[in-house]
Amino acid sequence: MSDYHFSDQYKQDATNLNDFKLVGIKSVGWESPSNIALIKYWGKHGDQLPQNPSLSFNLKNSKTKTKLIYQQKESDEPTIRYFFKEKRNTPFEKRVESYFEKIAIYLPFIKKLDFTINSNNTFPHSAGIASSASSFSALAHGLCSVEQELFQTLSNQEEFYRKASFLARLGSGSASRSIPGETILWGKSDLMKESSDEYAITIDNQIHHVFKSYHDAILIIDSGQKLASSSKGHALMENHPFAKARYQQARVNLEKLLLALKSGGEKLFAEIVENEAMTLHALMLSSNPSVSLMKPNTLVVIEKLKEFRRKQRVNFTFTLDAGSNIHILYPNKIRNKMVSFIENELTEFCENGKWIDDTISEGPIQVE
Ligand code: PMV
Repeated sequence: MSDYHFSDQYKQDATNLNDFKLVGIKSVGWESPSNIALIKYWGKHGDQLPQNPSLSFNLKNSKTKTKLIYQQKESDEPTIRYFFKEKRNTPFEKRVESYFEKIAIYLPFIKKLDFTINSNNTFPHSAGIASSASSFSALAHGLCSVEQELFQTLSNQEEFYRKASFLARLGSGSASRSIPGETILWGKSDLMKESSDEYAITIDNQIHHVFKSYHDAILIIDSGQKLASSSKGHALMENHPFAKARYQQARVNLEKLLLALKSGGEKLFAEIVENEAMTLHALMLSSNPSVSLMKPNTLVVIEKLKEFRRKQRVNFTFTLDAGSNIHILYPNKIRNKMVSFIENELTEFCENGKWIDDTISEGPIQVE
């Protein structure tokens, strides 16, 4: 089974996804959340395959809603009109066009459809929160619904979500983790036999209830663009002197994190999550070219958080993506304390005092 590839399977299945007759105009809509990685995906190979397994929580308020309106057409040229917040968005339209080109080997019918795509984010576009995970997840789930509508080939839920995750991955690696469930693992790990580099799986049945009440307070330190492109970021790992050690460390951290998640060990959880965030930024700083994405206020806030934790003797943790914003992950039982600390002592270091009060969600849902 080890050299079984879903990419081969889906290519083979595609031979039956060519001929259909669609009358009139159809539509389908999906809402997908962004996710916050606790074990980071940083470094890839082949066709968007990860160098190490990563693990994330799905978020609730940071999400993308995407509606696909489609009809059959005669020519084989893809026709896609992409609207973001009701305005035509040509840069993303081009990205979606090349994404459709790429995935047409798995979904050949998309070449015979004319698409109008209406997309919207619930989180502020300028918040410096990556929307590629939620966008590609919503798009991929939508395309699987189209396949199901035209061919009835994805009636089995497990198969539906596996293919959605597989396709989302080809748009943006982390998008593969925005699938139903709260805690999601992407990447092959010996610790989890159903895990795969090709798609993500939910591991909700391995999670202690203390983590179910976790919130994510996203402090917007700087809403400017993060990296020019995350592909450039992953490429920094290609000749990185610490690459091998990093991929090994991620596996060790995953093992410890899974243990913490299962046993309710909040201290160990906090230790690993912070270590992963600091490692991500250390890898960027020590790459060639060096990339520094933290801002002075990021460091000020991190120090304040550590001091607050020490003095108050409470358990919480924080993490960062490839940007300057800070995600504080904390349990509901300290919510009042945490929110007043953020409002009284941290918002002055946030851009225009901005922070997003988010929590863990159960992943994408079909909305239309
Ligand atoms: O999915 P990408 O290619 O945008 O990469 C995401 C990388 C990080 O957000 C930094 C880490 C992660 O695992 O989400």
